[in-house]
Amino acid sequence: MKPDLIAHAVNLLSKGEVVGIPTETVYGLAGDITQPEAIRQIFSLKNRPLNHPLIVHIGNKDDLNLYAKNIPQEVEKLIQHFWPGPLTFLLEKQTTISDLITGNQTSVAIRMPAHPITLAIIQQLGHPIAAPSANRFGHTSPTIAEHVTEEFDKKIYVVDGGRCSMGMESTIVDVRKKNQGQIVRQGLITASDLNEVLGKEWVITNAKNTSHTPGNLPNHYAPTKPLFLFQTQAELNEINQQYQNNVYLIYISDILEKNNVLTFKMPNEALAYAYQLYYQLRLADQTNAAVIALELPPTHTEKWQAIHDKLQRAKIN
Ligand code: TXA
Ligand code: MG
Repeated sequence: MKPDLIAHAVNLLSKGEVVGIPTETVYGLAGDITQPEAIRQIFSLKNRPLNHPLIVHIGNKDDLNLYAKNIPQEVEKLIQHFWPGPLTFLLEKQTTISDLITGNQTSVAIRMPAHPITLAIIQQLGHPIAAPSANRFGHTSPTIAEHVTEEFDKKIYVVDGGRCSMGMESTIVDVRKKNQGQIVRQGLITASDLNEVLGKEWVITNAKNTSHTPGNLPNHYAPTKPLFLFQTQAELNEINQQYQNNVYLIYISDILEKNNVLTFKMPNEALAYAYQLYYQLRLADQTNAAVIALELPPTHTEKWQAIHDKLQRAKIN
C-alpha cells in the first residue's frame, strides 16, 4: 500500500480538512465525522443542500454498534456476507452521529467500503468518515482521482487509489423495520442477492417512492454535455443530423451504422458496463463533441436495473 499517502490524508482529516478518497464504488469527498467544520465544508464544496444526508464509512464491522442502534439480527448475516463492500444500511442513529450528517433525520446510512487505502485511513484516523460521492451536486460521480481533482479545481487533496473497481454507487437498504427491508437506492447488489443470504422470514424489496433522497432525484449523475438516450438506428440518425455528427457515441450493439468519429463500445455484461459508465461519460465530456448519444442497453434483468435507473436520471429532459 501507500503509507505516505495514507499518513498525509490522515493528517489532513485530523486537522478538519476535506480529502478525496478512493472506494470500490466511486470516489468520496471525506471528512472526519467528529468535526462539524469538515462536514460543513463537504456540503459547501459539493454545493449540496443541507437536508441531503451523508453516508458514514466505518473501518471495522463491529463499529456499526457505536453509530447505529436497534440493529436487527438478520443484518448481521448481510454484513458477514457483503462487508466490506458496496452495501449501505439505513438504521436508527446513535447520538454519536451529528444531525448535520443526517440532515436532522433520526436515521443514519452506514457502510464499510472495500478499498484497502480508505480502510487504513479510517482505522488510523480513529473515527469514521462521512463521504458523499466526490462530485458537484447532480453531476456524474468520479471513478478516478483525476476526475475528483478536476471537479474541485485542485482545491482538495485527493488520495489516488486507482480506478474504482465497481464504478457505481453502493446499494442502500433500509433495515429499520422488522422482517422486511427496502432498497431505497439501487446498486449492483440486488434484492435477490440480499434475499439469497437472508432467511425466509426476511424479505427485501425495492422501495417504490424514494424521491426525497438526492441519488433518486430526477436530475442526477448528469454529464455537463447533454446526454441523449436512444434505442434505434433511426433515433441515432436523428441526433446525428441535428448536431451535424458532432456527437460522442456510446453504444452497445454490433449492428449500429456509425458516422461518428468519437465512439466507445460498452460491454454486454452488467458489472462490466457499470465499471465503464461514469468513466466513459466523463471522458466524453472532456471532448469537443456537442452532445453525447448513448444506446440504451437492451437487457432489463435485475442486475441491469441500477444502470437503467442512473441513465434515466443522467439524460437530458
Ligand atoms: O457508494 C457510495 O455509496 C458512495 C461512496 C463514496 O461510498 N457514496 C455515495 O454518497 O454515493 P452520496 O452522498 O453521493 O449518496 C448518498 C445517498 C444519498 O442519496 C442520501 O440521500 C442517502 O444516501 N442517505 C444518506 N443518509 C441517509 C439517511 N439518513 N436517510 C436517507 N437517505 C440517506
Ligand atoms: Mg452522489
